[in-house]
Amino acid sequence: MKKIAVLTSGGDAPGMNAAIRAVVRIADYHGMEVYGVSRGYNGLINGQIEKMTPRSVADIIQRGGTILKTARCEEFKTEEGRAKAVEQIQKYGIEGVIVCGGDGSFRGAQLLSRLGIPTVGLPGTIDNDLAYTEYTLGFDTAVNTAVSAINNIRDTMTSHERVSVVEVMGRRCGDIALYAGIAGGAEVIMVPEIPVSIDYICQRLLAGKERGKLSSIIVLAEGAGHGEEISELVEKGTGLETRPVVLGHVQRGGTPTCRDRILASRMSAHAVKLLSKGVGNRLVGVKGEKIFDMDIDEALAQKRTFSKELYDLAIELAN
Ligand code: F6P
Repeated sequence: MKKIAVLTSGGDAPGMNAAIRAVVRIADYHGMEVYGVSRGYNGLINGQIEKMTPRSVADIIQRGGTILKTARCEEFKTEEGRAKAVEQIQKYGIEGVIVCGGDGSFRGAQLLSRLGIPTVGLPGTIDNDLAYTEYTLGFDTAVNTAVSAINNIRDTMTSHERVSVVEVMGRRCGDIALYAGIAGGAEVIMVPEIPVSIDYICQRLLAGKERGKLSSIIVLAEGAGHGEEISELVEKGTGLETRPVVLGHVQRGGTPTCRDRILASRMSAHAVKLLSKGVGNRLVGVKGEKIFDMDIDEALAQKRTFSKELYDLAIELAN
């Protein structure tokens, strides 16, 4: 394969730019041409496609967001939309596509592959909610951003002897809450995978106060409740002054960590090599620090597992 395209799709994630840069530079190094598609699948449909060179990806490895822009595309879910995309791909002579995104973006990659366009997916989402891979691009950066916010919040909570409910992202997946909670020394972690009652949370906070804790942090995944609501219930149930903080999109921006940049570079190199050999319909992932690829249908059929071991560790650490 000599001509490939790259696009970013769905919610952006720090490390997407590092991935685009690596795709372009590694492909060029191996004598392949790369076309950048703007605004995810929308750009494929509307022909927002431009040739990229190693110089057009200079000075982006350290930037959050995605220079290609991103979008969630409804039109690509229709047969007509996909037909338009294939037409554009053929018009440009593109032989394979690399899609960096999450679950929804990979459903698109699956459909594109079925239409005979070899497509390879790179996991780009802060949520870490893809079952087939241990880590997704952007997760490490998002967790570090959340931890740094928790550090600040803890300072003022301790001074005022308050409780804070820190709502982090993750609609269906509690990994950001779990990792940021452990690294930020949270007293309680609330995730969608393990529902707990407000009574249980209040008991744990009061028991902590009994043991001499000056303040407490609850890290709440957005999929397990709303910060403001949980904060009110906790204040009512414990009598402790409680404040909510919603971190929101702060977690999606910012300079990617070294780990995300290296993961993006390694995964992208793997994706380019697959397409160079004409291999498509694959997702790239990482397990035990090893980069691998897997059939898209097989990867998307896997069921996510949540680390009960880490969750239990967090409870013991909050002692
Ligand atoms: O999928 C990534 C994510 O950041 C989720 O954690 C969050 O729920 C969602 O995207 C927010 O989406 P939007 O930016 O469209 O509001």
